[in-house]
Amino acid sequence: IRILFVTSEVFPLIKTGGLADVSASLPDALCRLGYDCQLLLPGYPAALNAARENGSRRKTRFRCGQYDVSLWQTRLPGTTVTLWLVDCPALFDRAGNSPYQNESGEDWWDNAHRYHLFARIGSMMALGQLGLPWVPDIVHCNDWQSALIPVFLSDAQNAPKTVFTIHNLAYQGLFSHETFRALGLPDFLWRYELLEFHGQLSFLKGGLVFSDAITTVSPGYAAEIQTPWFGYGLDDLLRHRASRLRGILNGIDTRQWNPNDDPHLMHHYGADNITDKAMGKSRLQQELGLDISSAPLLGFVGRLVEQKGLDWLLGVITPLLERGCQFAILGSGEHHYQEALTSVARNWPSQCSLSLGYHEGLAHRITAGADGFLMPSRFEPCGLNQMYSLRYGTVPVVHGVGGLNDTVFDPAEVGLPRANGFVFREPTPDAFYKAIERALTAFGCRKTWRKLQDNGMKGDYSWANSAGQYVSLYQMLSGTSNQG
Ligand code: ADP
Ligand code: GLC
Repeated sequence: IRILFVTSEVFPLIKTGGLADVSASLPDALCRLGYDCQLLLPGYPAALNAARENGSRRKTRFRCGQYDVSLWQTRLPGTTVTLWLVDCPALFDRAGNSPYQNESGEDWWDNAHRYHLFARIGSMMALGQLGLPWVPDIVHCNDWQSALIPVFLSDAQNAPKTVFTIHNLAYQGLFSHETFRALGLPDFLWRYELLEFHGQLSFLKGGLVFSDAITTVSPGYAAEIQTPWFGYGLDDLLRHRASRLRGILNGIDTRQWNPNDDPHLMHHYGADNITDKAMGKSRLQQELGLDISSAPLLGFVGRLVEQKGLDWLLGVITPLLERGCQFAILGSGEHHYQEALTSVARNWPSQCSLSLGYHEGLAHRITAGADGFLMPSRFEPCGLNQMYSLRYGTVPVVHGVGGLNDTVFDPAEVGLPRANGFVFREPTPDAFYKAIERALTAFGCRKTWRKLQDNGMKGDYSWANSAGQYVSLYQMLSGTSNQG
């Protein structure tokens, strides 16, 4: 089976969150299993520079509407995965590290045009209209940025089958009716059953309505988004398409995230020599200017947005600092959270460290050096950090939603022999605080803590199982049953 995996971000070229990690690790896992999975990404400067540096060339050049477009063929660094880049300088040659926003953190004014063109090229590639020798059997689209592809393919003859994966229902790609017209989308699509959503154009609905199969990134989230609380007004539609919807838990790249040989760490360790993890903790305390002590060190790495439960974290942090806990926080995002955290860190310099910005190495060192890892997410489609922390013997404390609920197991619910972390269920800071208190009690009891760490480190978070579930889905859709 030939799969075209279409994404707006991919590690290590351009990343805002977990979509980039999955867009690298899933295609890589599929290629390793012997499937022909190729990636399509907008030609952002970082991606085109990497392509030029490794001697890649443009394969074809053409006009699409008012735009000059060319397609580059290269390889995703560190993998054998073929990567196609949609080079359209007018739309993608933009400064800054974010694919979606300018340097002041505002969405690019023409995002609808940018990802409309990207989807247009994806559909032309899928239909073999670009004169390339390679044509896919399956097009796997991800999030709103590629959600128009199933729309464009819906009335084409011999179109490949489409899979649409929801990584986060909160980001829908909503634009005005004026933009709908400016894009030249056919009038009949402006209907509530199709692309219209409460008077706006919804890119996301394109994927939800027109794809042959919908997946999301954990079984828990697949069930949640069919309820009003998590459904963002789309739960009706998702219930209507429930027979086409399934949750497939993300895997992680167990080579990038391996405490035994992680290049970002000075001290390596594994399940058999976990005592060496303590050296990483002291080193981290030193790096961050915290007291070097045996106080419980709690880590947080993530986007500073409402989804990640920052207000709950801010609600519990001071009493925990008063009790002697330390915090290592890394993130970037909304101003008011940055400011609130900055003020806490300023008041507690030897116990609370805040690093603003995106730092890959530090993310690894916090994951390794912390004792506990906090994820009080309001909702979490899958979440990768809890799996990274489990693998690093760092015990997660999480809100029991979505993928967190599918991967973290609390001793109070499953018993210590199967537990690997702490889960709170009530959506309040108080419940979060109580879960941390239980974690601190366990931290004080060496044997219990070891068992939790051990259970976490022995779990399988690789793509072994989940890549197979995608393969079954591709096979079912394309009507094949043999690897090809
Ligand atoms: P989401 O996609 O919702 O942001 P995930 O848990 O799926 O959440 O993935 C987040 C990814 O982004 C993880 O790999 C995490 O380590 C990384 N990450 C988030 N913020 C930062 C940051 N400031 N510095 C480094 N890595 C970060
Ligand atoms: C989204 C979700 C996150 C998930 C990631 C990768 O960004 O917020 O929970 O892990 O996508 O699928």
